[in-house]
Amino acid sequence: MMRNPLIRPIAAMLTALLTVAFNASAAQITEADNDKFSRFKKQHQSWMKTSESTEVFDVLADDPNLVVLWAGYGFSKDYNKARGHHYTITDIRNTLRTGGPTGKEDGPMPMACWSCKSPDVPRYIDTNGEEDYFTGKWARNGDEINNQIGCGNCHDNNTRLRISVPFAQRAMDTIGWEWKTATKSQKQTMVCSQCHVEYYFEKDTKFVKFPWDMGTQADDIEKYYDSIGFKDWTHGLSKAPMLKAQHPGFETTTAGTHGRNNVSCTDCHMPRVTNEKGRKYTDHNVGNPFDQFEFTCARCHSQSKEDLEAVVANYKSMVTDAKLKAEKQLVHAHFEAKAAWDAGATEAEMNTSLTAIRHAQWRWDMAIASHGIHMHNPAEALRLLATSLERSADARASLARILAKHGNTDVVAIPDISTKAAAQAAIGLDMDKLEADKARFLQNVAPKWDEAYNNKYGGDDK
Ligand code: HEC
Ligand code: HEC
Ligand code: HEC
Ligand code: HEC
Repeated sequence: MMRNPLIRPIAAMLTALLTVAFNASAAQITEADNDKFSRFKKQHQSWMKTSESTEVFDVLADDPNLVVLWAGYGFSKDYNKARGHHYTITDIRNTLRTGGPTGKEDGPMPMACWSCKSPDVPRYIDTNGEEDYFTGKWARNGDEINNQIGCGNCHDNNTRLRISVPFAQRAMDTIGWEWKTATKSQKQTMVCSQCHVEYYFEKDTKFVKFPWDMGTQADDIEKYYDSIGFKDWTHGLSKAPMLKAQHPGFETTTAGTHGRNNVSCTDCHMPRVTNEKGRKYTDHNVGNPFDQFEFTCARCHSQSKEDLEAVVANYKSMVTDAKLKAEKQLVHAHFEAKAAWDAGATEAEMNTSLTAIRHAQWRWDMAIASHGIHMHNPAEALRLLATSLERSADARASLARILAKHGNTDVVAIPDISTKAAAQAAIGLDMDKLEADKARFLQNVAPKWDEAYNNKYGGDDK
């Protein structure tokens, strides 16, 4: 793999020998410094290119309904679409969801939030164990997690493909995708599915867990969450016990046409390409597969790029249309539930409606949260949105009866939610304070994290 100069392989061999001689276990600790792998030129350089996907797309500004649907939860403060892997550390620090911690014990989020952001996560777990890693607030180890997603997230120190974190391996084992017996195609999908999955934080330990004990599909996961009485939060308006779908790419994709035909995530997002010198390698610029059409879709399909783009765009517009319809019903249901509480409804009266809201929003969220679903599994997206509409209808019908019983037969008015700012005001968020706290954090705390990390481990990757 390493071609010239000769010195490098010899030096590497010596280091390996010394490592084995002095500290056998050191060889198992993830190397988190991505630049230590720069000798893999084609892979390292193409990996660097994820920095070119810079666009920050404000999803809440694009669709202010979401602010209402996530009232009482961090996502109502700030939510941007995913961009290049290069930006994981920058973006998790910048988002208002992680708040403006002033010290190690401060802030709204737990340590678990780092889990899909950096090769420092496997490095830290290799060194200190999972229990230590998952202890405390997000700010506790801000000075330990510093490198953006890189080699150590998908490879061991010898660039062999692997699952790098034990919580992902446990989940894969649960569904029979054991690394030892997995096919090549499964492995290529598994490396992405360490992160592009639905997960939750276990109640007492705050460990990351993928909710797959009863299966990986939306209905299975809903059943599982109901059976353990789990909720991500209590809705700020309706008081419903809500679930938040994270980024269920694995769950929806593997059940789609391509997944069922063993097409892996990397067949489309990290294709084998040939460079100008005629050398073949795996393109590490994880991005939009249409940008590498010749090496992705065209490997298996004979249609033109334009034709296939049109097919995908058509699915997207169908999904977007159904999504907006489902959101409209959910927005009404949340405000109607609030009106019912305000009119004096009891918990016993409300339970059935709140469960229907929980299920309706879960199904809507599973259909949209991973962004690529219109490509990965459009049929499932449309099915989920249809069942979301059904559950919203259940909720609104029972809420109308409760409201009438308490003397309210008027239409429940929806306040102005036509812009992100209006919707955030309608649910009572103090955006000025959130932004000031964040600015203070970025100015005072984040640079100290970088300094401490660099003093301890060297390098400055960002
Ligand atoms: C998101 C996961 C991911 C990351 C991050 C990643 N790789 Fe890879 N890498 C892969 C996959 C998938 C393959 C293809 C392996 C296969 O298909 O069996 C691969 C293959 C390789 C190969 C084998 C040769 C080739 O081109 O197929 C090398 C060497 C390599 N990667 C180096 C690196 C280096 C260096 C980094 C960090 C700069 C890195 N990888 C980051 C997933 C990743
Ligand atoms: C260690 C966790 C992790 C792994 C492994 C991982 N991703 Fe990601 N991925 C993320 C995060 C986090 C983001 C969002 C980054 C941001 O917006 O700052 C992201 C963003 C993306 C994007 C959007 C890129 C863009 O430019 O818009 C795509 C596509 C993607 N990932 C696909 C994949 C595929 C395919 C794999 C496997 C080859 C993979 N990811 C492996 C965590 C991961
Ligand atoms: C058959 C090809 C194909 C496979 C297989 C595939 N994807 Fe995609 N994916 C795409 C295309 C194409 C898009 C962009 C759709 C568009 O242009 O609107 C996309 C979009 C995405 C996005 C959203 C990026 C964004 O910023 O909007 C993520 C994340 C993603 N894919 C991750 C994955 C993961 C993880 C897997 C495996 C579990 C996977 N994909 C499997 C083709 C594929
Ligand atoms: C490794 C092979 C492979 C790659 C790469 C691949 N496909 Fe496919 N695709 C398939 C197979 C297999 C089917 C199912 C064919 C069947 O059932 O007859 C399929 C079906 C489809 C379908 C029809 C089914 C549906 O879901 O609507 C579309 C559209 C499609 N692919 C688009 C794409 C696009 C766009 C890309 C690139 C982003 C792509 N494919 C990449 C193998 C691939």
